[in-house]
Amino acid sequence: MCGIIGYTGSNNSINILMSGLSALEYRGYDSAGIAYFDENNSIQTIKSSGRLSSLSEKISDRQISSLCGIGHTRWATHGKPSDINAHPHSSSTVSLVHNGIIENYAKIKSFLKSHGYDFLSETDTEAAALLLDYNYKILKYPIKAIAGTSAMLEGSYAFAILFSDIPDTIYALRHDSPLILGVGAGENFAASDITAKKKKTKNYIALEHGEIGCIKSDKIEVVDFSANIIKKPVLTASWNFEQAQREGYEHFMLKEINEEPQSIINTLHPRIKEELPDFSCDSIDFDRIINSERIHIIACGTAMHAGLIGRMLIEKYAKIPVNVEIASEFRYNNPILSKNDTAIIISQSGETADSLAALRLAKSLKAYTVAVVNVIGSSIAREADSVLYTWAGPEIAVASTKAYSVQTSLLCLIAIQMGILRNTIDIRFARKIVSELVSDIPEIIKSIINKSEIIHETAKRISKSDDIFFIGRGADYYLSEEGSLKLKEISYIHSEAYPAGELKHGTISLIENNVPVIAIATSEYLISKTISNLRETKSRGALTILICNEKFNFDDIDIVIKLPAVSEDLAFLPTVTILQLLAYYTALERACDIDKPRNLAKSVTVE
Ligand code: F6R
Repeated sequence: MCGIIGYTGSNNSINILMSGLSALEYRGYDSAGIAYFDENNSIQTIKSSGRLSSLSEKISDRQISSLCGIGHTRWATHGKPSDINAHPHSSSTVSLVHNGIIENYAKIKSFLKSHGYDFLSETDTEAAALLLDYNYKILKYPIKAIAGTSAMLEGSYAFAILFSDIPDTIYALRHDSPLILGVGAGENFAASDITAKKKKTKNYIALEHGEIGCIKSDKIEVVDFSANIIKKPVLTASWNFEQAQREGYEHFMLKEINEEPQSIINTLHPRIKEELPDFSCDSIDFDRIINSERIHIIACGTAMHAGLIGRMLIEKYAKIPVNVEIASEFRYNNPILSKNDTAIIISQSGETADSLAALRLAKSLKAYTVAVVNVIGSSIAREADSVLYTWAGPEIAVASTKAYSVQTSLLCLIAIQMGILRNTIDIRFARKIVSELVSDIPEIIKSIINKSEIIHETAKRISKSDDIFFIGRGADYYLSEEGSLKLKEISYIHSEAYPAGELKHGTISLIENNVPVIAIATSEYLISKTISNLRETKSRGALTILICNEKFNFDDIDIVIKLPAVSEDLAFLPTVTILQLLAYYTALERACDIDKPRNLAKSVTVE
């Protein structure tokens, strides 16, 4: 969370900083600010609470000429969104932007207060900025001051820093939180991720934990805390950045749902040969995976929900027990892992702080770590033993959609491969599922998107509700969790998901007249049970909504949304599209800010 940008070169830095911040705004949008060297080489700061547009307004009536500056878009952790709490935070010698959390900021603050420092803001970041000022005044050299400051800080942080007496240089420090250095021609950058400098260069250096970047317009040096130069490769981002435009769609979320069919094809196609899985283009040790005693799938939010589907498929096809763990719980629960286990970390961004920490923990316990990640070169992708990329392209809307579809379809292919290698799946069945996955499912998803009137109508009926419940059994319960998360995240309607049989153990007391209960029933074996549970809510006044296979008819249910014919094992894919569209249209009816829901950020780089 929070986005950092820095620019030094021969162009006016302000436009470049603002365009970088606009690309990074998905990381947080509570406030924004810039600091830059003016024509007289003194640092000026402009900041504003609220969206980036408020900062733009403040800047628009000024004639600024600047060749070097830093910028920030904030997701508030310490201190409410306000002009004062907005970054950059400055002293007479330094100006600093920060992504992360300084955990010992209170201690640093009282230390600095005892040395005569005054604080303006409520933020943890100001403590880091003033500590750097303190160290710079004593140690005189930027690298020494940064290293000395880092040694006193606890937490995770990425900084971009201007020193007031070094007008053409940006210093960048990475301590856990992500940071890359963009390599241009006669101009260079620091940024939280590659999308921030997409219009300028695709070349970048990935800064690692404990590395400092010294960025001038004509060169970049990366050094350690003793100022030793570290040789770093220049990488090239392979995304087509045009994908990061809305292209006529009203919202990124709708665009990204529409991209699901192609994203599934892009992710699976290179990994299929003669209708069977073929992972020869990935460096992944399947022997180690299939001989694991246990598989742990670790992730957060939607990625964790994808992991639940993965568990179901791996256990069904490969018969290996799978734990699905919420990363923020896993890391503090003394997990029992060994070299005989595999840990699969799922993350769209590849930067989620809890998932990254869980990966490091699993590695330290000697488990084989496999990352399923969408962002190339992200921290989780770099640190895992093996990485399987999902090829969904940039996901900009805060609510994850196409990432879930590619994660679950890739997990399905992995499960089939494991089943084949362990001889626990029939090869003809494997071929059937693989070909359906890559050929039929994308078409089925397209047909759902193209005939979404009933979903929109349903959204209108539920959009005035205060509470909405989702129920299902097995995979349908996992889908209920995802449908409920998506709905509450963007429409702000309170929602809960329950295993259908569990409702009557307490929660059913919340059902009263017209409370929508959405049942997902894609399994023929379980549908009669789920319908009984839905009827139990109807007899208590609920507005009943059912998502089920096209061959079923239930006249007593208020709204039935039918899935086109699809194998039960793959029904999760078109069903999730229905749930995402339902959340989308409900939020649209309520005029919510769909792509940037309140209090959220796309990339959760704090724990
Ligand atoms: C919900 C959503 C989040 C993310 C979660 C993990 O729509 O997007 O729940 O899934 O924050 O993010 P990644 O996948 O980037 O690790």
